[in-house]
Amino acid sequence: MAQSDPALKPKKPLVRDHFTTTLGIFVATLGSALGLGNLWKFPALTGANGGAAFVLAYIISTILVGLPVMISELVIGRSQHANAITSFRRLAPGKLWWLVGALGALAAFFILAFYTEVVAWVLLYIPKAISGELATSDPAVTEKVFVSLISNPVASLVGQWIVIAYVAVIIIAGVAKGIERVTRILIPILFAILILIGIRSLTLPGKAAEIRQGLAFLFTPDLTKLTFSVLLTAMGLAFFKLSVGMGTMITYGSYFTDDANIPRIALRVMLADVLVSILAGVAIFPAVFAFGAEPAVGPGLLFITIPTVTNTMPLGGVVMVAFLVLTAIAATGAMLSLFEVPVAYLAEKTRLTRTQATVITAVLLALIGSTAALSSSTLANVKIFGKTFFDLWDYLSSNLMLPIGGFFICVFVGWVWGWPQVRDALTNKGTLNNERVVKFFYGIAKFVTPILVLVVLLCGLGLFG
Ligand code: TRP
Repeated sequence: MAQSDPALKPKKPLVRDHFTTTLGIFVATLGSALGLGNLWKFPALTGANGGAAFVLAYIISTILVGLPVMISELVIGRSQHANAITSFRRLAPGKLWWLVGALGALAAFFILAFYTEVVAWVLLYIPKAISGELATSDPAVTEKVFVSLISNPVASLVGQWIVIAYVAVIIIAGVAKGIERVTRILIPILFAILILIGIRSLTLPGKAAEIRQGLAFLFTPDLTKLTFSVLLTAMGLAFFKLSVGMGTMITYGSYFTDDANIPRIALRVMLADVLVSILAGVAIFPAVFAFGAEPAVGPGLLFITIPTVTNTMPLGGVVMVAFLVLTAIAATGAMLSLFEVPVAYLAEKTRLTRTQATVITAVLLALIGSTAALSSSTLANVKIFGKTFFDLWDYLSSNLMLPIGGFFICVFVGWVWGWPQVRDALTNKGTLNNERVVKFFYGIAKFVTPILVLVVLLCGLGLFG
């Protein structure tokens, strides 16, 4: 999907890769969006925040906030065919807008600090699934397995280091393109397995009432559960799942061809991403009620519930292992897109080579990440603002840095860049015949998204009201 484009060469010394087909663009962008956000974070947060009302808030945030920020980022990157910081520097020379890109590089560290640990849990679960330790439909048993795993400091640390090293090796070896190609084939398989587990969850024998309860939990909103802090978490999830608010999508947009229809691609990625999350919810929540698990257990929900469903299936162990492997692969695409942001920043802003920048990023990440890795063992009692390090990095990035980044990105597109430029960039100079859609998007990005983000952020933090 990525070949050098002679037309882009004169613009800069480096030959830039780009995606060559609409399908390639769509799949690559979706590859960054899909990951633990869908399979792990969405169910955990939905369970912890009361269910359907949270899902509704998340979907509304995705439409009114996530999608406009995604279109804004993609069009900024595509217009300059450059990384986040350079794009801002070129669009607003001499101004401080590049700081949005720098903030994004910092956010990448915080996200990866806990993300790599969750991937480590996924990998460490594979031998347990193979050995039969997880072959049970009793959530009390799977919970014990999960808790003993995360409270083992050595396994947590070493597991995380292995994940960081493996992502760093992919970045240094420059085989990301190969990984993306593999991901492209495996994502449909992950889809299929998720649907399979979902069907099993919806047809668990003798559990009709519990299954209905699980579906009601997921789809019948109780709006009294919506506080501003829940709204902020839902909005943070919308940012996280679409990989927006920190420059990843600016970078991806820079690889788009000049004839790509950005609003349409963004809309499709958003729909697919929401669909995968809902599928994960359908796979998990009926089983939560059927086997008497607790929806609000937090980060362990996926690890506690999925084995209870797969265990009731023929070849359940195989399905479980396949699910874990595919989850790790989906997460790899997301990790690569995160890792690349600080690496590109260091390699461009300092004299470091790309390899040195990657090694430094990996070491820094292992240091910050170890605080998250040890959050359920050695450092379990260390709390900052009442949160363990794991929760703190998660909260800081999703609930603070991504919304702040997204706010400035929309303000930039709506108020600084200006309508004629945005219109030209998104209609591909009028060739797409989508001016009404673009105008609608522009109105939302200019007036609705920034105000919504600001109100939810300030109220959600309790600074206001
Ligand atoms: N969206 C990915 C997921 O759901 C995670 C991710 C990748 C991300 N790149 C990002 C989150 C950039 C925020 C910002 O797993």
